[in-house]
Amino acid sequence: SNTHSTSNGTIQKLSQQLENVTTKDEEEPLFSPTLISPDILSILPEGYTARPLRRSDFHLGYLDVLRVLTTVGDISESMWNERYDYLFKRNDEYYMIVICDGTGKIVGTGSLIVERKFIHALGLVGHIEDIAVAQDQQGKKLGLRIIQTLDYVAEKVGCYKTILDCSEVNEGFYIKCGFKRAGLEMAHYY
Ligand code: ACO
Repeated sequence: SNTHSTSNGTIQKLSQQLENVTTKDEEEPLFSPTLISPDILSILPEGYTARPLRRSDFHLGYLDVLRVLTTVGDISESMWNERYDYLFKRNDEYYMIVICDGTGKIVGTGSLIVERKFIHALGLVGHIEDIAVAQDQQGKKLGLRIIQTLDYVAEKVGCYKTILDCSEVNEGFYIKCGFKRAGLEMAHYY
């Protein structure tokens, strides 16, 4: 009957929607991998790679690497997914990258946030944030490779400059990465 076919159609539609939800591609990159510099990929240590963040990186140690930098808190997978959805909808603004070792474990992270301005003829400014290399992987140039990877993204998407804030202890690192001291950071905590 008609009623039957309508409800069958509705059920079909609903089950398709459910499938879309449950098979959301966990491995889909946050942004296009064409923005990852081939030159940087070619000089990483053997077996290591640099790539955009993925939803599944929750299970590969992304948050643990960030714990090298500061407190992260107790983030459940659903909290992660909620934030990831937000970033994914804005993947012309948030560019998170990871470095993985030969086993696929995340050993380094970095973020580039692209700010869209009115000044400088609608200029774009890159902001580098949350650079972290796992304790036992520091000193292998991975930090430098993270910055170079983000610099490449910034230039490719049209930023005229990239800026960052850091503590005095890291000044030498950023100078080695080609940055120079400019201005003064101020903060108002709430
Ligand atoms: N001071 C001076 N020079 C440094 C420092 C430092 N603190 N750290 C590294 N360098 C030098 C290295 O000796 C190397 O020099 P070389 O080319 O002459 O050999 C060069 O900088 C590149 O160093 P990497 O090996 O790439 O550094 P690493 O992989 O250890 O990463 C990082 C550096 C990211 C600072 C790492 O130590 C780390 O994760 N620290 C804890 C978290 C942190 O402080 N992150 C930065 C916060 S600021 C921000 O996110 C914007």
